[in-house]
Amino acid sequence: MEVIQDPRQLQSHILSLKQMGKTISFVPTMGNLHAGHLSLIDVAKSKANIVVASIFVNPMQFGPNEDFDSYPRTMQSDLEKLESRGTDFVFTPTINQIYPLGKDIHTSVEVNRLTNKLCGASRPGHFKGVTTVVNILFNIVQPNIAVFGKKDYQQLQVIKTMVADLMMPIEIIGGDIVREDNGLAMSSRNGFLSPSELDEASQLRKVILAAAKKLEEKAPIESIKTNAIAALTHAGFKVDYFEIVRQSDLENAQVGDKNLLIATAAWLGQPRLIDNLEVNLIDEQSE
Ligand code: PAJ
Repeated sequence: MEVIQDPRQLQSHILSLKQMGKTISFVPTMGNLHAGHLSLIDVAKSKANIVVASIFVNPMQFGPNEDFDSYPRTMQSDLEKLESRGTDFVFTPTINQIYPLGKDIHTSVEVNRLTNKLCGASRPGHFKGVTTVVNILFNIVQPNIAVFGKKDYQQLQVIKTMVADLMMPIEIIGGDIVREDNGLAMSSRNGFLSPSELDEASQLRKVILAAAKKLEEKAPIESIKTNAIAALTHAGFKVDYFEIVRQSDLENAQVGDKNLLIATAAWLGQPRLIDNLEVNLIDEQSE
């Protein structure tokens, strides 16, 4: 495994690999890697000859009151995990290498659809930071394939939209959510939870599963949402949103929509946790 910090060096390395006929798959991360990230490396490995991962805590996607400074940075153990999983290259740029002019005056890329709702509504500017950095990373790594986790479902859809709108020749693949034994989706922010909060956090998944069951039983969407928010509040969460939307465009689900997503974000103590579940209702006419 080779660790490269300089963008131009990685860019020319990849160019010569591609000239030799190699295909490249890419997994961007902010580090503090867990089994969820590593499962994306496995997907990437199964899809191309060369796997590139990046580790870069991107200041542009954090709001002024968010946790950029305290975001966990564990470079050495991250590199060991990536190496043991068979990663070929790890890109570890500095902030200055990514935003030489400073992040506030850097050219930015923004997806207009999709980014105002769900996490975008409570984290203004977040997705603009994500799409800008992913664009920069894509231009450096020039992947054929890039893998993103369904844990950040909205991010995955925003990236797919960006790639389609800008006609980037990159296939975007969604990797399944990897969970703790108690059902909590793995996250770099779970480390901020106390042992008792970790226990309580499993309610997030349970409430989503209960909502999915109600959805399948054709209960009214508004009452499913109200009950779920009440259950989460009772379990000690401060709910940011609990929504039932269409998978394709994240618009509110209407009666008759089949491919739905239950998505929620809620604070438990300090950290804000997110989780979601795809629910594909069966079309009764085709039964
Ligand atoms: P980060 O939060 O480090 O996540 C990197 C990738 O891992 C994302 O695609 C995310 O969806 C995926 N991931 C995180 N937890 C997961 C889990 N439990 N199961 C499966 N996949 C999981 O997302 C980002 O970084 C950044 O926004 C980034 C895309 C790197 C741009 O800065």
